[in-house]
Amino acid sequence: MASKQEIIAGEILKRVHVHNPDYGGIFSETTGTQGSGKTAILLSFAKYTINHFPEEKIFWRSSYDSPLQFFKIGKGGFNIMVKRGSYVVFRDRDKKLAHVDLKHTIFDGFDDLYEKAKPGKINAVFFGDGKEWIDYLGWSRGIGEWAHYYIDELGDVAPSFTSGDMWKKVGDFANILKDVRRCMMNIHTNTQSTKDVDYRVRAKIMLKIFLPGAVVDGTTRVRQRAVDNLIRNPEHGNQAYLDMGGQFGVTIFADIFKPISGYHIDAHILTENEIEKLYA
Ligand SMILES: Nc1ncnc2c1ncn2[C@@H]1O[C@H](COP(=O)(O)OP(=O)(O)OP(=O)(O)O)[C@@H](O)[C@H]1O
Ligand SMILES: [Mg+2]
Repeated sequence: MASKQEIIAGEILKRVHVHNPDYGGIFSETTGTQGSGKTAILLSFAKYTINHFPEEKIFWRSSYDSPLQFFKIGKGGFNIMVKRGSYVVFRDRDKKLAHVDLKHTIFDGFDDLYEKAKPGKINAVFFGDGKEWIDYLGWSRGIGEWAHYYIDELGDVAPSFTSGDMWKKVGDFANILKDVRRCMMNIHTNTQSTKDVDYRVRAKIMLKIFLPGAVVDGTTRVRQRAVDNLIRNPEHGNQAYLDMGGQFGVTIFADIFKPISGYHIDAHILTENEIEKLYA
């Protein structure tokens, strides 16, 4: 028999995936230690969306200079999109970072990006500049249809301890996040440590997911002991603790996305030096 917390977890996950304009969109953050399955949770949410809402658009933000994770969704499951003039290249980490030609769509502005994005696929977007994600999410509030945004490593987009213009930019992001519920945007993010993410942005999180090794902070009533007791099971999936507005649930994420062996491609923004060498 399912425990009370398992039942609540089921209700919370239903809420994540239901498209009821009265409930609106959701902003979630998953934390956990390295390799605890944070990216796998984003992939499992994206896979659910692809299966149940194939007409909707999904956007995915990847880190640069580390293996691209969206490949794990499988061939045909993604569409790579690169901003025109952005100096983004793809490299093979198994071949001394040799540049590889990946099939991709070029886009110009945000309208063009949204227009060209393919429904029912993960649209992996490369702006070549982290701050553009904030502007794109701001722009997206006006779309008026359900759309999904996955931000792998939120700390790269909304880092803590910024100053000056970047501090203001991250403040803009926190303001944008106030509107996600009403604007039918589902934003799912992850980070290793809550300390990596700006506190103004963290204050807007509606659903917190804790995987093994996560460190809880003052913004949740989840106890550290509860997270420390989560069961790690690499065969059947790690347990996770969910906190949605003070409702607590425990579940197992059974979707396990294994690395694709021998396929280590990263995205990289060419430095000025590299550009000079390339065109010398
Ligand atoms: N639900 C899961 N439960 C347990 N193990 C998993 C699960 N999903 C994936 N794994 C295993 O853990 C590995 C790491 O998963 P994933 O890349 O999602 O972790 P991560 O927390 O995002 O790691 P990182 O901190 O490096 O970004 C996977 O390659 C896979 O073998
Ligand atoms: Mg990850």
